[in-house]
Amino acid sequence: MNVNVAQSFNFFPVPTDIHFGCGMVRSLPERIKSAGGTKAFLITDPGVRAAGILDEVTRPLEKAAIEFAICDRVKPDSGSALIDETVAELKRSECDAVVGIGGGSSLDTAKAVAALATNPGPALSYAGLHKVRNRPLPMIAIPTTAGTGSEVTLWSVFTDDTRSVKVAIGSTLIYPAVALCDPELTLDLPPLVTAATGMDALAHAIECYTNNACQPISGALAMEAIELIGRHLRSAALNGRNLEARYAMMLAAGMAGIAMNPTRLGLAHALAMPLGSWGLRIPHGIVLAVTLPAVMEFNYVAEPDRFVDVARALGESVDSLPRMEAAGRAVSAVRSLARDIGIPSGLGEYGLREEHVRPVVDEAMKSGNVPVNPRRTCAEDLARILRQVI
Ligand SMILES: [Fe+2]
Repeated sequence: MNVNVAQSFNFFPVPTDIHFGCGMVRSLPERIKSAGGTKAFLITDPGVRAAGILDEVTRPLEKAAIEFAICDRVKPDSGSALIDETVAELKRSECDAVVGIGGGSSLDTAKAVAALATNPGPALSYAGLHKVRNRPLPMIAIPTTAGTGSEVTLWSVFTDDTRSVKVAIGSTLIYPAVALCDPELTLDLPPLVTAATGMDALAHAIECYTNNACQPISGALAMEAIELIGRHLRSAALNGRNLEARYAMMLAAGMAGIAMNPTRLGLAHALAMPLGSWGLRIPHGIVLAVTLPAVMEFNYVAEPDRFVDVARALGESVDSLPRMEAAGRAVSAVRSLARDIGIPSGLGEYGLREEHVRPVVDEAMKSGNVPVNPRRTCAEDLARILRQVI
């Protein structure tokens, strides 16, 4: 790693107590007790229940005689109305700990519900940064995908149901108290979900590593995540029962999540919020998987050295190449990874049309991810990138 003596920076460690390992879900009763909980409110989605993963969570609770209630109504990119309803349900249940089980939508919903249990008013009144005042109920995150890193981040992203727009609560108070990361829970995740969520984790790591806010501590974590994903995402997506690949991907998603908390991301994530909004509602992982190579193509000429590092971490032999060619290898490596794991080449099949370009770009340009992007970007640049992925 090269150091830059002119750089001053801030890195805040994650307060989440991370427990990682195969079979870790069975330690849930201990974690609830050590977080001060006695009765658990479980928040998940119907897919997690149908896959039998909810049973993996409730069995140890029954064995330990810990009471629990279940809300399994989370939908992809769940909304503010469900969060508010679930808070009322939680209060009626008299539970004193929240457990989120699932992908980003379930974990983000659970984080918001735990916060609103102790902070008055509707979810939407906390959208933005640092608006949560009181410490939430203890919240335990059990990820069942390897992608969003929500188990270790300070963000809860959900849909504002009044405007059909994605919004986020960002607060250092809403980190989960505990992350129970059990790679065995991801063994049956379907190939396209594995591929798209894995590309989301890769986008977190690459956008974090290459942006203007990156510093050495986030950079080290992001670099390790890129290397792990480059080595293991193909196997995880194409041979889902490969436990080593699943382990590596869950580790990478968590490391990328910790890396990105202080740095923000880049243009691919700026586009993800509006592309997940309105009638479009394209899944977050798909947006990232499709847009990341196009965004990297635009960015690599501005910060070639960082992209050379990315190429090397992805296993490219770059040492004998001219600098710009070596940097460009990061883009081709990500493109071929996406192709190998079955990521669609465009978002047209998800409903993206020319008429969406202007409103999506206008909304994306307001994102806090644009100012840290490694290449200065105007609305026309972003529109050009988006048109490449229709
Ligand atoms: Fe993401």
